[in-house]
Amino acid sequence: MPKITTAALLDMKKRGEKITALTAYDAPMTRMLNEAGIDVVLVGDSVGNVKLGYENTIPVTMDEMVHHTKAAKRGNSNALLVADMPYLSYHLSLDETRRNAGRLIKDAGAEAVKLEGGIEVAGTIKALADLNIPVMGHLGLMPQSIHKIGGYKIQGKTEVSREKMITDAKVLEGAGVFAIVLECIPEDLAEIITQKVSVPTLGIGAGSKTDGQILVSDDLLGLTLGPVPKFAKQYADLKTQISKALQQYHRDVKKEKF
Ligand code: KIV
Repeated sequence: MPKITTAALLDMKKRGEKITALTAYDAPMTRMLNEAGIDVVLVGDSVGNVKLGYENTIPVTMDEMVHHTKAAKRGNSNALLVADMPYLSYHLSLDETRRNAGRLIKDAGAEAVKLEGGIEVAGTIKALADLNIPVMGHLGLMPQSIHKIGGYKIQGKTEVSREKMITDAKVLEGAGVFAIVLECIPEDLAEIITQKVSVPTLGIGAGSKTDGQILVSDDLLGLTLGPVPKFAKQYADLKTQISKALQQYHRDVKKEKF
């Protein structure tokens, strides 16, 4: 299988071939995603709520992102490996932003970084592009702004917010992103943005008119312990299977069957 690069994703958009993207936070899952042919592996800051027991993504640190990205890197072969920049790692100064993105690329082995925001992060994206660090944008529901938004709700429902998101997408494109995640927005808005920008869009809860889809692996595998977003189709029920296996192990050992 050929190595997926940012240029390969652009070609896929041009050809109309849908892009597959999923999260992973460790080597075995990254390896399985690669074996399934997934194009993009995202070490998301969702590691905070999915694996580290935090309530949301806000507490995730750079050290935690570096640790999990290093692990994913060891399992990666052909997919494009993208790492999230956690909250406050790209907000304080451009120098600190460069150092933090550099850690994910140089120390942890990511091939690109993702950060959330529209026009307000355009300068940040340019600064990273100047260091030859590919950046993926993220619009719509931005979990790092959860306290401001007040909940995991659909974004882009009013005319004003729709227009702002379209403008933000164009600004991100101009700043040099190689792709844009569109999270929890109406399908028709995702379609308009997808048509208006030349870079690929990856939807999550944004319908099927984007250039591809990105989901949290644990959601589609049935591993998530809390509520699963309605848009995440379940492809397996691993939580139930694991519970059954653990209970059987418990019974066997108690009965000296080992
Ligand atoms: O952190 C994350 O998992 C994300 C999603 C887009 C999948 O940002």
